[in-house]
Amino acid sequence: MNAACRCERPINQVLVSCPECGSLLDVAYDWGADAPRDWRVFEARSATRGPRRAAGTPASPSALDFSGVWRFRNLLPFYEHEAQIVTLGEGRTNLQRADQLAKVLGFSPEHAGLYLQYEGFNPSGSFKDNGMAAGFTHARIVNAQRVACASTGNTSAALAVYAALTGMKCFVFIGDGKIAYGKLSQALEYGAITLQVAGDFDACLARVRHIAEKMPEVGVYLMNSVNPFRLEGQKSIMFRVLEGLDWNVPDWIVVPGGNLGNCSAFAKAFLELKQLGLISKIPRLAVIQAQGARTLDRVYNDLALRWIAPHPAPHADVLSGTWDQAAIDHEYARMDRDHERAHTVATAIEINRPVNLPKALRALHAMNGVVRSVSDDQIVEHKALVGRFGFGCEPASGASVAGAKLLLDQGIIKKDETVVCILTGHLLKDPDVTVAYHTGLNMKAAGVDLGAAKPTGRISNPPIKVADELDAILHAMGYHTPTR
Ligand code: F0G
Repeated sequence: MNAACRCERPINQVLVSCPECGSLLDVAYDWGADAPRDWRVFEARSATRGPRRAAGTPASPSALDFSGVWRFRNLLPFYEHEAQIVTLGEGRTNLQRADQLAKVLGFSPEHAGLYLQYEGFNPSGSFKDNGMAAGFTHARIVNAQRVACASTGNTSAALAVYAALTGMKCFVFIGDGKIAYGKLSQALEYGAITLQVAGDFDACLARVRHIAEKMPEVGVYLMNSVNPFRLEGQKSIMFRVLEGLDWNVPDWIVVPGGNLGNCSAFAKAFLELKQLGLISKIPRLAVIQAQGARTLDRVYNDLALRWIAPHPAPHADVLSGTWDQAAIDHEYARMDRDHERAHTVATAIEINRPVNLPKALRALHAMNGVVRSVSDDQIVEHKALVGRFGFGCEPASGASVAGAKLLLDQGIIKKDETVVCILTGHLLKDPDVTVAYHTGLNMKAAGVDLGAAKPTGRISNPPIKVADELDAILHAMGYHTPTR
């Protein structure tokens, strides 16, 4: 990605960063004559029948076609043989039009539409499975035996699932008290060796990265989103969005930003699709952060840092460019000096130093993007709204809907545009926050102080206490016994 370096390495080398310049890596393809130029090749696969073999063994064709990642395998062809591919049926997710929610947010009832891309349908309940399927495929190619990640929760849950299925030894590094229980329970249940490090996510990532990069004798394959193969898998979220829109390109993609892997993957997907002639325009990108963890917002909006590319988007060459790393380092030093630490109810995105920040700048360049941050109150309110209309997501995902509302109010998103909000994780990932919102209880446990021990949310739905008496129960149900 660094235009000043442009060094290339073979696919079977295990690297976390460029050995020449230290920057992030991309998977680059020579799109040959057999590259897909038509969406029909993918459509045909949805009909494949037959038994699906588990991930530990070579996947059967029906298993590859069943996967929402590998159904699009010609668009991430870094493997040599299909037998190397790891899958457990990830990416069977849904793009659903959300008219009731759109109405409440203020979208035009007649035109275009608001859509929710629900990644909570994945095997481990978050979008991370898309990336793990690709990351584990590469891990298998290089014969890795041990995998590791630092995580705010979802990466560790996904890592643990795939490690259990492929029989790899699995280490997860989690920060002290910064993980939602739904996610922690997954890592424990799937047998991950879970290290609760006395530090935050950034500290965990620095440690595990050091071990993976500088201590080859430990033999750990790193599965955080600095791993470029993971991002290849996450491109498929956008392929499925297009599939759900009959291969039409929406006006906006709205996504929460934490470590900034997803938005980076999305931009790469669109640039490649444009290059292959599969789409004719690229949607705009909105990255939404929590106000308590707004590093990209500050760097992009307050400090006006930009991706510097030789061409305007959507030229495929914008994938390599340069950026002002010194300014980023300067900002990180200031944050340290001011003891500024990320804090948000959306623990998934409670990150100070997003590792993919340069790639996110590139994504904003490629997709004519904007960055906004939203408050914890807005996050939980919009999360509840998503739930009220029958979906349900975790707090970080609520940020994307809160961000869409903010951009609509600011007139940046137009009422009649087609907007896709990515719901990155399932409602059940973080029940504490949900219960706290609806009851006003457990505020401390949920890591947020909304002010009182009674429900304060606009659509809080607390349980009704009732005596064990028929009349009282009927009354609480809203049924009034007719007078005899
Ligand atoms: N939404 C959810 C539910 C997440 O778990 C994450 C990241 C994000 C959004 C942000 O995505 O990092 O690609 O910008 N969770 C990571 C983890 C950091 O460790 O599970 P991003």
